[in-house]
Amino acid sequence: MMMSQLFSIPGVTASSIDGEALWGFWYPALRSDELRRRALVTSMRMEIPLVLGRDAAGKAFALRDVCPHRAFPLSAGSCDGQTIECTYHGWRFDAHTGQCREIPSITSDSKLQCERIYAGSFPCEERDGYVWVHLANAEGRAVDRAAIEPVPDLPKFSERYRIAHLTADITCNMDTGITGLMDPAHGPFVHQSWYWRSRRSIREKQKTFEPIPMGFRMSSHTPSSNSGPYKLLRIYGEAVTTQIDFVLPNMRTEQIRCGKYWFTNRTTVTPIRRDLCRLDFVAAWNLFRWFPVTPFLKAFGKRFIAQDQRVIERQQPGLKVQPRMMLIDDADRQARWYFQLKAAYLASQQTGAPMVHPLDGPVTLRWRS
Ligand code: FES
Ligand SMILES: [Fe+2]
Repeated sequence: MMMSQLFSIPGVTASSIDGEALWGFWYPALRSDELRRRALVTSMRMEIPLVLGRDAAGKAFALRDVCPHRAFPLSAGSCDGQTIECTYHGWRFDAHTGQCREIPSITSDSKLQCERIYAGSFPCEERDGYVWVHLANAEGRAVDRAAIEPVPDLPKFSERYRIAHLTADITCNMDTGITGLMDPAHGPFVHQSWYWRSRRSIREKQKTFEPIPMGFRMSSHTPSSNSGPYKLLRIYGEAVTTQIDFVLPNMRTEQIRCGKYWFTNRTTVTPIRRDLCRLDFVAAWNLFRWFPVTPFLKAFGKRFIAQDQRVIERQQPGLKVQPRMMLIDDADRQARWYFQLKAAYLASQQTGAPMVHPLDGPVTLRWRS
């Protein structure tokens, strides 16, 4: 079918999977426990080679892993707790700002102002067990740190709670990974299992969504009775509610509440390269204290994510010859909103005008899953 014909079918749009990068957001670069004092650790996000470490006080920093002198990897050098020394010609750079502190080869009468030379650097913060980097441009040019948004924080509703993390690489671009996150229709086919749900459990759903800054929210509601894990919460004998937010660039956050008990989780899909993403899942909870939730969550979570990994991998050869995908009403409406949000954000970045949100009020969607 020709694309022009596709557009003329009511309820169908087509979207190109261009995987365009979104600059100006926080992205998780590493797990906190991967960063040990004085060691330099590399990571790649949005095709930027990064070197991360900790200063003498333990505060994390992130530089572009490319020496401004001759592009040598700074990660091959060493950190003294304040500066990183490039091992090629010994130039030293401030670990946080990237400012050059010393060029050993220059003589005392040299006119070269080494403090005007910078290695690329990125704002860096730790939260919920991750080291986050704020990526505003690929070069690591300085940004006004006071003007950037606070680092994302997983919601928690009590002093004491447990937390667990899962990570997986998925071989696709960011758009495929993210639309996979918000696709309700694949659940009964891809995630069939005795503890979750079966294909026969498919039924009609109706959910209300509302616009939120940079995204949309599936408004707080009682979870579907055909999703297994929610059933466990019935033991508390209180009403269970769930609310799911998606916000740019890549973040799905779910809050499940049941009286004073709660379970929250967040999934991010961060581009490593154009064709590879890192999925990070973090969950926090204060329920089932008497039960070892963590190993179960990890085992089931791994299986669940592996099911998604497998379908996405098998989708790739097809996407090479057919990079546009059909988005149908209403099951694919969230994916469509994602592309619209992204286009609106990119347009506002380009023009400097405020971002125009694609949703102007609550919307009810209906689908079968
Ligand atoms: S390449 Fe780094 S000091 Fe020369
Ligand atoms: Fe899935």
